Amino acid sequence: MKPRPLKTLDRVLSKAGLGSRTEARSWIGTGRVRVNGKVIQTPDHWVDLARDRVTLDGKPIVQSKKLYLLLYKPKGYITTYKDPEGRPTVYDLIQDVEPWVFPVGRLDQDTSGLLILTNDAQFAERITNPDYKVPKTYLVKTSTRLADEHLDQLRNGISLSDGPAAPAQVQRLRDSGDKTFFEITIREGRNRQVRRMVEALGSKVLKLVRVAIGPLEIERLEIGKHRPLTLAEVRELTQLAFGPRRAT
Ligand code: URA
Repeated sequence: MKPRPLKTLDRVLSKAGLGSRTEARSWIGTGRVRVNGKVIQTPDHWVDLARDRVTLDGKPIVQSKKLYLLLYKPKGYITTYKDPEGRPTVYDLIQDVEPWVFPVGRLDQDTSGLLILTNDAQFAERITNPDYKVPKTYLVKTSTRLADEHLDQLRNGISLSDGPAAPAQVQRLRDSGDKTFFEITIREGRNRQVRRMVEALGSKVLKLVRVAIGPLEIERLEIGKHRPLTLAEVRELTQLAFGPRRAT
C-alpha cells in the first residue's frame, strides 16, 4: 500500500489558506490548534488530513479552493508577508483576498510588474522551478546607451558571479538620449538576475517592469490592482509549467 502523504501541522494550516506558516506556528504555540481533540503545540507534528481531524479555535480545517491571482505590483512594495522595517508589502494590496495566498517567486522592491499569487504550492513550485523554464519578459531602462554588442552579450549568455546566465531573447525598443530601453525574456529566476546582467555590461538598471509571465501580459490591469486568472490562463500556464522539462 502507498504511504499516505503526511504534512507538518503548520503546513496544513497555511495550505488550508488560513495564514502564513509563521502565523500558523504562533497559533500552534499558543495552544489554539487541536489534532483529534488534543492540543498540539509542536509545529512539526505530522498530520494525515485523510485521517486526522485538525481544528483551529474549535473549527475544523478544510482545504480551501485553489486561487490564482495576477497582481500588478508597483515599485516600492516588497513580496514578503511581513517586513521588520515596516515597508509596504504586496499583502497591503490584496487585503480583500481570501483564502491566504503567497507570491510565486519574487520581484525586487524596486521592480514593478506582474506577480502571480496563489495557494497552490505545487503549481508555484513548477512555475518557479528553472527546469520547467516558464519565460518571463521584462522592460528595462538602462543608465547608459547600450551598443548592439552589449545586447548580443545578453543573447549569448553573459557571465554572472553565480555562473553564466542562459541565453536571453533581447529586443531593443528605443534609445533616448544616453539611455536604452529594451525588452528581455529569461527563463531563469535568479536573485536580481536582470539587474546583475545589466551590471555585467557596465551599466545599471534605472527601471524594471515585468510585463509578461508566459502567456500573461499586463494589458488593462492597473498598477496596484489584481484580478483572478481565468480558467483558460490557469490551464495554459499549467500546461507550460507541467510540460516536459526543457533543455535550454
Ligand atoms: N530581475 C531582477 O533583477 N529583479 C527582479 O525583480 C526580477 C528580475
